[in-house]
Amino acid sequence: MIKVGIIGFGYMGQFHLNKMKQFDDVKAVCAFDNDESKLKDAKDAGLEAYDTLEKFIEQELDLVIIATPNQWHAQYAIACMQSGSHVLCEKPATMSVKELDEVIACSEETGKFFTVHQQRRFDSDYRAICEVINKGTIGNVTTIESRVLGERGVCFGWRAEPEYGGGMLYDWGVHLIDQILMLYPGEQVVSVNARILSILTPKVDDFFEITMMLSNGVCGKVIVGTFALQKLPRWFVFGDRGTMKLDNLCSTEGGIARIKGDVEGFDSVVGQKVIGPSRTMAPLKPEYLETIAVPEQENMDMEFWNNIVAAVKGEAVPYVTTEQIRRQMLIVEKAFEASKTNQTIKTSI
Ligand SMILES: NC(=O)c1ccc[n+]([C@@H]2O[C@H](COP(=O)([O-])OP(=O)(O)OC[C@H]3O[C@@H](n4cnc5c(N)ncnc54)[C@H](O)[C@@H]3O)[C@@H](O)[C@H]2O)c1
Repeated sequence: MIKVGIIGFGYMGQFHLNKMKQFDDVKAVCAFDNDESKLKDAKDAGLEAYDTLEKFIEQELDLVIIATPNQWHAQYAIACMQSGSHVLCEKPATMSVKELDEVIACSEETGKFFTVHQQRRFDSDYRAICEVINKGTIGNVTTIESRVLGERGVCFGWRAEPEYGGGMLYDWGVHLIDQILMLYPGEQVVSVNARILSILTPKVDDFFEITMMLSNGVCGKVIVGTFALQKLPRWFVFGDRGTMKLDNLCSTEGGIARIKGDVEGFDSVVGQKVIGPSRTMAPLKPEYLETIAVPEQENMDMEFWNNIVAAVKGEAVPYVTTEQIRRQMLIVEKAFEASKTNQTIKTSI
């Protein structure tokens, strides 16, 4: 039986508890939280509940889940690995590359793994994008726009406080950066440009645009805003034979259009009245075009956790490696620097 402890019994702590319930050989045994009401929730769920880290790490645990606000991740991860547990940490792994390096050193010293919950690698929208790009369905890709927009404006609770690691770059940002990096694992990021703003949340970022240029010439743009009352697609991908978009965080709403295989060039009919006399920007003749269904994706909701269980048993390595997380955190730091200095930063990440 794999014994698991949970630090931070809030939204994500309980999300992981529900995932664990799918396995006969995994048992959540205890939780540590600094909020009385969350300790009661843990007891109600049948767990031992502790109000200090010291009491929690005295327990013999195979795996600890860290699901607290972000600034506690590094120190709790180190304490848990030193006490003999593997660690699955919520994203962002840490608040800085420096902290992450200390965590990685501890993992190497103790032989315990440290991995991060980057489960959005298994989301159906992302897998559909990967499949279309990797198969060359829309030709050579030039730009990938990955965007998440909300309507409620401000960040809430600890997410609005810099000392807890609040703000959207540490939140959605690390998922979207991870997805771009994992699309092209063999390519380097050669430059980073960013605009990171606090529009409605005073102390942390609630809007950002980050542009990553990859060594293969692809431009990855990630955009997050908490306040947008009109819709833009979740994904928009420009290829040199076609275009793909997905409207939402799922693979079913969107489309792919491309030039038919036997069409060599483009006609030069002058555009319709509505756009005035333009050839380049006029609509393409419909007979030149084909639309392609977005490829269906199987449900992979348990994929991340299946791998974690196999990794604890020593039967697999965690999907999310410390090298991958380190690249992601380097991009986060370069993005903050680029935004602050209003410069594009050359990188080899
Ligand atoms: N992977 C994902 O898709 C995803 C989604 C949401 C949140 N997250 C991450 O999960 C983590 C938790 O987010 P959440 O939405 O569950 O927050 P939450 O506020 O619902 O839960 C946080 C819990 O941590 C407890 N806590 C706070 N400080 C603590 C401390 N010093 N020691 C012990 N417990 C403490 C709180 O009492 C609370 O129960 C964050 O790192 C966040 O970025 C990841």
